[in-house]
Amino acid sequence: MIGRLNHVAIAVPDLEAAVATYRDVLGAKVSEPQDEPDNGVTVVFVELDNTKIELLYPLGENSPIAGFLAKNKSGGMHHVCYEVEDIYEARDRMIEKGARILGSGEPKMGAHKKPVLFLHPKDFNGTLVELEQV
Ligand code: CO
Repeated sequence: MIGRLNHVAIAVPDLEAAVATYRDVLGAKVSEPQDEPDNGVTVVFVELDNTKIELLYPLGENSPIAGFLAKNKSGGMHHVCYEVEDIYEARDRMIEKGARILGSGEPKMGAHKKPVLFLHPKDFNGTLVELEQV
C-alpha cells in the first residue's frame, strides 16, 4: 500500500546549526525556514534527489517537538513519512489491521498542504509514521 518515502523528519535543538551542517558539511540544498504555526514547528526542507529531509524546530508554546527535544537533547529522528494514494482508504486499512491512529483519526493538513495521518510508534517498531496523500 505505501509508496515512496516522502521525507524523514529530524528534530533539531538549533536550527541554524542544523542548516549549516546539511548545507556546508553534507553539501545539500536547503530551503529557507518556514513557520507552520498550525503544526507548532519551523521547518527547513533539505532536498535530496530521491527524497527530502525535514529539519523540525519547535514553534510556539505547545509544539509537539518540544517534548521530544527535552528527551533527546542533541535532536534525533522524529518520524518517517510514506506516501499513499488515498488517505481515507489507508486509515481504514490501518484500523482494520489493528494499528492505532494518533489524534482524532481525521486527516489534517501537513507541511506540504496535503492530508496526513500519524500512526502510533508502538505499532511500528518504535518509529512514528506519517502517511501523506499525494
Ligand atoms: Co512529516
